[in-house]
Order: sequence, then C-alpha cells, then structure tokens
Amino acid sequence: MTFRSEITGVGSFVPSKIVTNFDLEKLLDTSDEWIQQRTGIVQRHWVDDATSNSDLGLIASLNAIKNAGIDKKDIDMIIYATLSPDHDFPGTGCYLQAKLELPEISVLDIRQQCTGFIYALSIADKFILSGSHKNILVVGSEVHSKGLDKTPNGRNVSVLFGDGAGAVVVSRKELNDPQIDSRIIATQLFADGAHAKELWIPAPGSAVGKDRMNHQMIEEGLHYPQMNGKAVFVHATKRMAECLVSVCRETDTSLADIDLFLFHQANLRINSKVAEMLSIPEEKIFNTIQNYGNTTAATIPLGMDDAIKAGVLKKGMLVASAAFGSGFTWASAIFRY
Ligand SMILES: CC(C)(COP(=O)(O)OP(=O)(O)OC[C@H]1O[C@@H](n2cnc3c(N)ncnc32)[C@H](O)[C@@H]1OP(=O)(O)O)[C@@H](O)C(=O)NCCC(=O)NCCS
Repeated sequence: MTFRSEITGVGSFVPSKIVTNFDLEKLLDTSDEWIQQRTGIVQRHWVDDATSNSDLGLIASLNAIKNAGIDKKDIDMIIYATLSPDHDFPGTGCYLQAKLELPEISVLDIRQQCTGFIYALSIADKFILSGSHKNILVVGSEVHSKGLDKTPNGRNVSVLFGDGAGAVVVSRKELNDPQIDSRIIATQLFADGAHAKELWIPAPGSAVGKDRMNHQMIEEGLHYPQMNGKAVFVHATKRMAECLVSVCRETDTSLADIDLFLFHQANLRINSKVAEMLSIPEEKIFNTIQNYGNTTAATIPLGMDDAIKAGVLKKGMLVASAAFGSGFTWASAIFRY
C-alpha cells in the first residue's frame, strides 16, 4: 500500500507573560528603536519560574491532538525538537510522553536548533511513509528566557529570543484518492558544521576541559549563547533562498505556485531579504516575529497555528517553509495543507 503523510492537527502555546522591548531597556542597555529597526521584534513571551519546556510542549501537543480530532492514545510516536531541554538528559520528549500518559510509545529528541521543526517533520514523514507509524506528534518547544544573559553583556543575543511551543500531528493516509492532495510533498535538510561556533553555547560540554561545567565557565559566561550576528545574517539569507529554490526544483513547483510561505522567524530583515532575492511578494510571507521574537524550534508550528486562526492558512493551500539556524543547519519543506 502507498501512503501519504498529512498534517491533520496543529496547536501552539505561549506563556502569558509578555516582555516588551521597553521592559528590556531596563535590563540590557538597549532600546525599542534599535530592536525594532534591526529585527522587527516588538515583544516576546517568557515563562515563570515554575514552567518548563515540556509544560509548554504539553499544552501545544494537546491543542494539536484536539485539532486533529483524534484521541491522544492514537499517537504512536513523539518527535521533540528543542535546544532548551528540561534537563541535559533524558530528552524532553520523555517528559512530554509521561505528561501525556502515553507509556511505551517511541520518543525521539532532536536538536537542529532553528531548523529543528523541519528536520522533525521530515523524520515524521519518512516514518509515516514507511508504514511503521500512524500518528506522529511533532513538537517544537523552547524556553530561552531561563538561559539568556540578562545583563548588557548579552544584549546582542538576549533581545532576540522568546519562549513558546508549537506542535503538529502527522497522520498516515492512503494515497488512493487523487482528489485529496493534502500531504507533505518534499523536505530537504542541510548542515555545515564548519560554522558551528558562529552561534553556540560553549558550556556545559565535554569539549571544554576537565569538567563539563565549573565555576570559572560560569564566571566567563560560557553557559550563555554566543553569536556572530553578521555571519548568521549572511549565511541565513543565502541558504534559505537556496533551499527554497532547490525544494521547488525537486517537486517541479514554481515559487509563484506557493500560496503561503512559513519561514523561520529570526529577523524580519532576513525574511525581507529572502523575499527580495526570490521576488516573493511580502504579503505571501506570514511573519510572527513581532509578537514572539525567535522561538527557534517552536517558530514554524506556532506561526502555522496563528496563520490558521487568522484565516490566512486554509485547507488545500500549497505551503513552503524554510529555516536556518545554529549548526549551521538549514532546511525547506513543501506541503499541501
Ligand atoms: C543581531 C543583529 C540584529 C545585529 O545587527 P547588526 O547591524 O549586525 O549589529 P552589530 O552586531 O554590528 O552591532 C551594531 C551596534 O549595535 C550594538 N548593539 C548590539 N546589540 C544591541 C542591542 N540589543 N541594543 C542596542 N545596541 C546593540 C553593538 O554593540 C554595536 O555597537 P557599536 O557599533 O558601537 O560597536 C543582526 O546581525 C542579525 O539579525 N543577525 C542574525 C541573527 C539571527 O538571526 N540569529 C538567530 C539565527 S537562527
């Protein structure tokens, strides 16, 4: 039997606490004007002390499962993308599985940072098409706020990131009805580890000396994200444009055929530049960075849920997605929603 993978449910969740650029002015020696001009970000959401990554993932997942119209017991695998896990190990998918009370189903945690969701979607697609699984929960969730340097030293990075979660259910359907074309059509995944240290967290880790973590590393701020913003910007625009063109070529799709572009949200200027490079009308790109900042692996499913709720993304639309992030990693997807 031949199968198709269909995104049958979408859900998201952001914590209620909103942190505006003006709030950050008080902490970071920054300004609303600088942040908006350079990035497009107006506000982001931060969790409270008691909330973990899997808490956000749980609510997003329950919303996606409800939206799919299935019972949670129909989920037979969880793929969890995050760079800000509940704990170093085990993976956050295990905590989500326990919170969902779905013992014994397979759980796979991946990283791939801002590209995490498209990587996870691609893995889910392959499992579904192989026939081994029926309903895979794909989750992207981040709690950045607990890991940012909230002093002026961290202002170049800390203004960019926010907390949130998004999830989709990818379901196995038979490919026997030519009228129904809702499916993941293609995904393409790329990486270039030569640039790993352009956007990274040095510690804790096994590559930083005798201990994974010690007081000196903390004093040096090695546990905070470090970024070469200009290098990221240059590579992001080039790679996102490249992988969009490439996935279109593979699927014999013209960019003009795409109804909606769901891009990763790292910086409004990155997305505008990609649009300019490929002559994509800006109104075909659904941007959410104004409200959330960069929520890394959560960004695309969170944006997808917002686009559905806003009536912008409708069933049957042809969607292209592209992301770029730490690693460097980048990826694209084309799907019929
Ligand atoms: C981060 C980014 C907005 C910075 O913009 P930029 O024009 O490259 O800015 P620079 O880093 O050169 O800094 C310019 C100045 O602003 C200052 N600055 C940096 N962050 C600041 C902040 N939050 N508020 C105010 N000033 C800030 C710098 O200190 C520098 O000052 P100087 O000229 O006196 O030395 C931009 O590089 C970018 O978007 N890069 C991609 C980042 C990204 O997408 N990351 C996630 C990838 S998934």
